[in-house]
Amino acid sequence: IPVDNFDLVIFGGTGDLARRKILPGLFRRFISGQMPEEARIIGAARSDMSVDDYRVMIRDAVHEFDPASAKHKDCLERFLGQLGYVAVDAMGEGGWKELHAEMRENTVRAFYFSVAPSLFGAIAERLKSFGLADDQSRIVVEKPFGKDLETAKKLNRSLSEHFDESQIYRIDHYLGKETVQNLMAVRFGNMLFEPLWNSQYVDHIQITVAETVGVGGRGSYYDTSGAMRDMVQNHLMQLLCLIAMEPPAKFDPDAVRDEKLKVIRALDPVEPHHIVRGQYAASEKTPSYRADVENARSFTESFIAMRCQISNWRWAGTPFYLRTGKRMKARTSEIAVVFKDAPHSIFGPEAGYHRNVLSIRLQPNEGMTLGVTIKEPGPGGMRLVDVPLDMTFAEALGPDAEEVPDAYERLIMDVIRGNQTLFMRGDEVEAAWRWTDPIIEGWQRRNDVPKEYDTGSTGPDDALMLMHRDGRRWREIK
Ligand code: BG6
Repeated sequence: IPVDNFDLVIFGGTGDLARRKILPGLFRRFISGQMPEEARIIGAARSDMSVDDYRVMIRDAVHEFDPASAKHKDCLERFLGQLGYVAVDAMGEGGWKELHAEMRENTVRAFYFSVAPSLFGAIAERLKSFGLADDQSRIVVEKPFGKDLETAKKLNRSLSEHFDESQIYRIDHYLGKETVQNLMAVRFGNMLFEPLWNSQYVDHIQITVAETVGVGGRGSYYDTSGAMRDMVQNHLMQLLCLIAMEPPAKFDPDAVRDEKLKVIRALDPVEPHHIVRGQYAASEKTPSYRADVENARSFTESFIAMRCQISNWRWAGTPFYLRTGKRMKARTSEIAVVFKDAPHSIFGPEAGYHRNVLSIRLQPNEGMTLGVTIKEPGPGGMRLVDVPLDMTFAEALGPDAEEVPDAYERLIMDVIRGNQTLFMRGDEVEAAWRWTDPIIEGWQRRNDVPKEYDTGSTGPDDALMLMHRDGRRWREIK
């Protein structure tokens, strides 16, 4: 279903995110027929560049970052025809009138801030003072949304001077992933899971987001951020919220976000001995973290494992283990709900140790698997075996199902539709910082040194110990 006609201005339109994700994503929506032929996308950035040069840049970007879509040659030329470009000085006066001249009446206006957060306030102010944005316009802001509570509050204040909360779309691209939304469908669309979804039946929950990449060319940003600010405060926290929240009364933006906020507020402070920080070492082929960020004395973590506790009626006593890191063994993101043992085994000790685990895979191979215990087939007596009830989406929906859209594609279409459900509200972001700030301050006070771990491993051994101490173990990363 096509969305309404729109004008989308991308500040930072020549930047990495625009070329890698935003524009190839919009092109895929164009191919699928969801982006209207009259819609316009206007790149805005500092450099002086003609519209033709911009189109060449974006054509190259689509070829580089999405070669499969680039094969739709005619389509790509039509898409490029819908692009515009204006050189704009975000902090000054230059280019704003020209940008204004590009905007049309009676279309949805959206402004994507794919720029450093230090520019958010200035751009928001100019959008209003030059008459580009009105009460119906939307602004989209990227992470990092601040680096602590104070900076996040400042950003919220500077945006809210010019825009109402209902116009502000704070992106966390994890919320746009197919499985993440499916998590809500599975939890609240079935009778099967919800009655068991609490500390009476769930032993613990594990959330792992493992990456094989290092920090690459983003060293200067990453070294001031670390895994806690880069991944935990936003992506892992959002996953935790969706897993742990109470059923909202409706699937509407504020009902969902109210419930997520309650989860963050119910998180206990984390004891230092419940956190393990790591930094990747050099391998034969790849540099160490410290070499990557060109800081031989860096104490920033590229890995984190932690045990969290949500103090509310539903989850008291059920730990949540979070783990994320770079240069790990495999690229895997998984949420695992590990259920408790059956209260009594009628099959005796020889039947072995069995537990139901619901594994929700975000990537790769998006889907869910429920481990169920059955009798081992054959005449060998009552021996038990675990088999997966597999709900891999691609297989379940068949070969004709539309390809799963990338997170950015979906989220941008939601902006045009005016649906904020999958975007973070200002108070949510602030509550998340309120929880992470004391943890980070604690490390700074104690001069905490991250443990080194091997590239291609599952992180430092201490992370294994974190689980062992509790008589549990991490799920395999594969
Ligand atoms: C980004 C982080 O938000 O998410 C990156 O800044 C990280 O450091 C990325 O690599 C992971 O996203 P995905 O979608 O590849 O899992």
